[in-house]
Amino acid sequence: MSGPALKHTDSHSAIHEAALHEAAELTELLDRLVKDEHYDKALEVAFVVVEHWENRTLRHADSEEEGLYKELVEATPDLKESIIELTRDHNLLRLLVKEIRTMLNEDGISDEVVQRFQALILVDQLHNQAEEKILPHH
Ligand SMILES: [Fe+2]
Ligand SMILES: [Fe+2]
Repeated sequence: MSGPALKHTDSHSAIHEAALHEAAELTELLDRLVKDEHYDKALEVAFVVVEHWENRTLRHADSEEEGLYKELVEATPDLKESIIELTRDHNLLRLLVKEIRTMLNEDGISDEVVQRFQALILVDQLHNQAEEKILPHH
Protein backbone atom coordinates (compact mmCIF):
# COMPACT_ATOMS: atom_id res chain seq x y z
CA MET A 1 0.00 0.00 0.00
CA SER A 2 1.57 3.28 -1.08
CA GLY A 3 0.84 6.12 -3.41
CA PRO A 4 -1.82 8.76 -2.92
CA ALA A 5 -3.67 7.07 -0.02
CA LEU A 6 -0.63 7.46 2.25
CA LYS A 7 0.14 11.03 1.19
CA HIS A 8 -3.03 12.56 2.50
CA THR A 9 -3.69 12.88 6.19
CA ASP A 10 -7.36 11.86 6.00
CA SER A 11 -6.99 8.64 4.05
CA HIS A 12 -3.78 7.78 5.87
CA SER A 13 -5.30 8.25 9.32
CA ALA A 14 -8.32 6.18 8.24
CA ILE A 15 -5.92 3.31 7.50
CA HIS A 16 -4.38 3.74 10.99
CA GLU A 17 -7.81 3.85 12.65
CA ALA A 18 -9.07 0.71 10.92
CA ALA A 19 -6.01 -1.39 11.77
CA LEU A 20 -5.86 -0.22 15.40
CA HIS A 21 -9.58 -0.73 15.92
CA GLU A 22 -9.31 -4.31 14.72
CA ALA A 23 -6.22 -4.95 16.86
CA ALA A 24 -7.96 -3.53 19.94
CA GLU A 25 -11.04 -5.71 19.43
CA LEU A 26 -8.98 -8.86 18.89
CA THR A 27 -6.81 -8.09 21.93
CA GLU A 28 -9.91 -7.58 24.09
CA LEU A 29 -11.27 -10.92 22.93
CA LEU A 30 -7.92 -12.56 23.67
CA ASP A 31 -7.79 -10.99 27.13
CA ARG A 32 -11.26 -12.34 27.93
CA LEU A 33 -10.33 -15.86 26.74
CA VAL A 34 -7.16 -15.89 28.89
CA LYS A 35 -9.05 -14.61 31.95
CA ASP A 36 -11.69 -17.31 31.42
CA GLU A 37 -8.89 -19.91 31.09
CA HIS A 38 -9.88 -20.95 27.56
CA TYR A 39 -6.23 -21.44 26.67
CA ASP A 40 -6.59 -23.48 23.47
CA LYS A 41 -8.95 -20.95 21.89
CA ALA A 42 -6.80 -18.13 23.26
CA LEU A 43 -3.70 -19.50 21.55
CA GLU A 44 -5.56 -19.66 18.22
CA VAL A 45 -6.73 -16.07 18.59
CA ALA A 46 -3.22 -14.96 19.63
CA PHE A 47 -1.83 -16.25 16.32
CA VAL A 48 -4.58 -14.37 14.48
CA VAL A 49 -3.63 -11.17 16.32
CA VAL A 50 0.08 -11.54 15.62
CA GLU A 51 -0.69 -12.15 11.92
CA HIS A 52 -2.90 -9.08 11.94
CA TRP A 53 0.07 -6.97 13.15
CA GLU A 54 2.41 -8.52 10.60
CA ASN A 55 0.05 -8.19 7.65
CA ARG A 56 -1.41 -4.79 8.37
CA THR A 57 0.72 -2.53 10.51
CA LEU A 58 4.19 -3.92 9.75
CA ARG A 59 3.48 -4.01 6.01
CA HIS A 60 2.16 -0.47 6.25
CA ALA A 61 5.42 0.50 8.00
CA ASP A 62 7.54 -1.20 5.31
CA SER A 63 5.74 0.62 2.53
CA GLU A 64 6.07 3.96 4.32
CA GLU A 65 9.82 3.50 4.62
CA GLU A 66 10.13 2.45 0.98
CA GLY A 67 8.07 5.33 -0.42
CA LEU A 68 6.37 8.00 1.66
CA TYR A 69 9.20 8.70 4.13
CA LYS A 70 11.75 9.12 1.34
CA GLU A 71 9.43 11.44 -0.56
CA LEU A 72 8.75 13.54 2.55
CA VAL A 73 12.46 14.03 3.28
CA GLU A 74 13.15 14.88 -0.36
CA ALA A 75 10.38 17.48 -0.39
CA THR A 76 11.15 18.82 3.11
CA PRO A 77 14.70 18.07 4.34
CA ASP A 78 13.83 19.52 7.78
CA LEU A 79 11.70 16.42 8.38
CA LYS A 80 14.77 14.18 8.45
CA GLU A 81 14.94 13.97 12.26
CA SER A 82 11.22 13.21 12.56
CA ILE A 83 11.53 10.46 9.97
CA ILE A 84 14.41 8.89 11.92
CA GLU A 85 12.23 8.91 15.04
CA LEU A 86 9.24 7.44 13.21
CA THR A 87 11.44 4.71 11.73
CA ARG A 88 12.68 3.93 15.25
CA ASP A 89 9.02 3.49 16.31
CA HIS A 90 8.54 1.04 13.44
CA ASN A 91 11.56 -0.94 14.64
CA LEU A 92 10.08 -1.08 18.13
CA LEU A 93 6.81 -2.42 16.68
CA ARG A 94 8.76 -5.00 14.67
CA LEU A 95 10.68 -6.06 17.77
CA LEU A 96 7.54 -6.47 19.88
CA VAL A 97 5.78 -8.49 17.19
CA LYS A 98 8.82 -10.75 16.79
CA GLU A 99 9.05 -11.23 20.54
CA ILE A 100 5.37 -12.17 20.76
CA ARG A 101 5.78 -14.71 17.97
CA THR A 102 8.72 -16.33 19.77
CA MET A 103 6.83 -16.38 23.07
CA LEU A 104 3.82 -18.04 21.43
CA ASN A 105 5.96 -20.63 19.64
CA GLU A 106 8.02 -21.49 22.71
CA ASP A 107 5.66 -21.13 25.68
CA GLY A 108 2.16 -20.71 24.26
CA ILE A 109 -0.31 -18.20 25.59
CA SER A 110 0.26 -16.20 28.79
CA ASP A 111 -0.64 -12.92 30.48
CA GLU A 112 2.67 -11.52 29.29
CA VAL A 113 1.64 -12.09 25.68
CA VAL A 114 -1.58 -10.16 26.27
CA GLN A 115 0.43 -7.35 27.90
CA ARG A 116 2.76 -7.23 24.88
CA PHE A 117 -0.25 -6.88 22.55
CA GLN A 118 -1.57 -4.05 24.73
CA ALA A 119 1.86 -2.38 24.60
CA LEU A 120 1.84 -2.69 20.81
CA ILE A 121 -1.47 -0.81 20.65
CA LEU A 122 -0.11 2.02 22.81
CA VAL A 123 3.15 2.36 20.88
CA ASP A 124 1.27 2.32 17.58
CA GLN A 125 -1.21 4.96 18.80
CA LEU A 126 1.64 7.30 19.79
CA HIS A 127 3.47 6.59 16.56
CA ASN A 128 0.40 7.33 14.43
CA GLN A 129 -0.23 10.63 16.23
CA ALA A 130 3.36 11.74 15.57
CA GLU A 131 3.22 10.58 11.96
CA GLU A 132 -0.11 12.27 11.20
CA LYS A 133 1.35 15.59 12.43
CA ILE A 134 3.99 15.70 9.71
CA LEU A 135 1.76 14.58 6.83
CA PRO A 136 0.73 17.30 4.37
CA HIS A 137 -2.73 18.71 5.18
CA HIS A 138 -5.01 19.51 2.29
FE1 LIG B 1 4.27 4.53 10.36
FE1 LIG C 1 1.18 5.35 8.71
